[in-house]
Formats: sequence, structure tokens, C-alpha cells
Amino acid sequence: MTKRVRKAVLPVAGLGTRVLPGAKTTPKNMLNVVDRPILSYIVEEARAAGIEHFVFIVGRGQGAIEDYFDSAPEIEQTLEAKGKTEILADVRRDLPHPGQMSFVRQMAPLGLGHAVWCARDVIGEEPFAVILPDMLMAAERPALAQAIDAYGKVGGNVVVVEPAPEGETHKYGIVALEGRDGRLNRMTGMVEKPPLGTEPSNLFISGRYILQPEIFALLESLPRGAGGEFQLTDGMAQLMARQDFHALEYEGTTYDCGDKIGLLRANVAFALRRPDLAAAARKAIEELL
Ligand code: UTP
Repeated sequence: MTKRVRKAVLPVAGLGTRVLPGAKTTPKNMLNVVDRPILSYIVEEARAAGIEHFVFIVGRGQGAIEDYFDSAPEIEQTLEAKGKTEILADVRRDLPHPGQMSFVRQMAPLGLGHAVWCARDVIGEEPFAVILPDMLMAAERPALAQAIDAYGKVGGNVVVVEPAPEGETHKYGIVALEGRDGRLNRMTGMVEKPPLGTEPSNLFISGRYILQPEIFALLESLPRGAGGEFQLTDGMAQLMARQDFHALEYEGTTYDCGDKIGLLRANVAFALRRPDLAAAARKAIEELL
């Protein structure tokens, strides 16, 4: 019997250099995909997977995230007075119950491993999810729910993976598998940004993790890794010496919204999926082409 996954860590404290200058004043995960910030979709995915507490790892100048997930009495009262009930419901849709969100300052963007370590006191002694909020995953069964289903079967630690584009494995954390049979396979190793030709597979860790709390002690004493940052992958590689790790190839499509073209693709794809916008979006795209 596995312990239930109730909490998720959402590290958003990176500088977002690939989407500057927009990310200078708007945290990159608050950039819109169609009419909602990226984080709105991410929180929706996590809720659908049963997550009850959200731990945001934030940096300076990211107060907009906290404000977005708080009530806005002046906007809500105006919409109510004008009878704009649909917009009001939409504005309220993302609001958590009081006490369901924690905001922890990373204080310096020292890497993803350091960001996750900052959540240690809020997570405590239970398994937890990590969601990279740049990676928007469109799937019939939400990606995190697929990861939690897999965790329910095999326990231990589970990372969601997918095939890297041809010749791009050196940009990602890559997993080594014991064998490849179906979508859920036991891992034997992982390496952050391996030089081309040395990659143990073509599968990269794409942004959803179920981890055991023993990771925190390992992150605490981690040496700097690739790019001079404290890498989550290095901490997981150490944990793998003591605990099981499985890689899950999830079913769905990932959009890397931390990248200009990825963000554009997400906007186009999500507009085309919206019944109220699809026809107009298609017409606009065809005209531009
Ligand atoms: P990225 O590798 O996308 O880095 O981080 P970044 O700084 O956000 O973006 P670029 O590469 O400069 O454009 C992956 C995730 O980890 C978070 C980021 O916010 C992002 O969600 N992160 C990264 C932190 O919270 N803290 C860090 O120190 C590093």
C-alpha cells in the first residue's frame, strides 16, 4: 500500500532567460496561453490528480502569482453588480481553499535541486509531486494523474519521460532503463545533459515527478552539477542507490512554454481545442499563413 500523494512542489523561481524581456516583469509562468496564465492549467492538472496542497518556490518580483490565487474583491464585486456571472465564475475558478497554497522564497536561483530542497519543511515526511510549470501537458487523463496511477502500481519514485527530439538529448536530463517493455519501466540511472553520443536512451525527464521525502537529505549535501547549478537529477541519482525509480512514458502532448516557439505552439493548440474559439482561431491562422 503506497502513501497518498497530497502535496505538489511547483518551482517557479528560475529567471526565464529564454522568454525575456517579457519575463522581466511578468513571471514566465504567468504568461497567458489563450486567456489564462500557464499556472492556471498546471494547478488544474494537479487538482485533477488529487493534489490538496501547492508549494510554490518563488523568487523576487513574483508577487503576481500569489495575487492571482487570491480573491480580488473589487473585480469580483464589479462583475457581480454588472451581472457578468460567466466571467465571474471564470475568475473564481482557480481560487484555492484558504490555506491550500504555500509560497517559499528560494532567495537565489541556484538550480532546480535547490528549489525543491526549499520545500522540505512544508512537505515533511510524505511522498510528494514535483511539477515543472513550464511544461504544459495536454492529455485525456492528466499527466500527473497518470504518474500517480503508476506510483500506485510500483511505489517508490516515478518520473515522467518522453522521447527527446532527434539530436537534442544533450539539452535534458536523460534516463537509463533496465529494459523497455510498455510505458512503465524500471530505471537504472539518469544523467543531466549528457554530451551527444553518451546518452543512455532518448528519453528525457519532462517535468512531472513523484518523489519520496528521503530526497531532501540528499539535496542538502549535493555538490554543484551541470551548469554550476544544484541539479535535482543528481539528487535523484543518489536516491536511486537506495530506492526504486520507474520512468513513465505518459500519453499526451507536451508544450515547453519556457521557450518562445513552445509558448506559441501552446497558444495555437489550446485555442484550437476550445469550442468557443476554435473556428475563429483556425480562420485567423489560415489568414496569416
Ligand atoms: P529552467 O531550466 O527552465 O530555467 O528551470 P529557467 O531559469 O526558468 O529558464 P531559462 O532556461 O533561463 O529560460 C526549470 C524549472 O525550474 C525552476 C524554473 O522556474 C522552471 O520552472 N527553477 C529553476 C527554480 O525554481 N529555481 C532555480 O534555481 C532554477
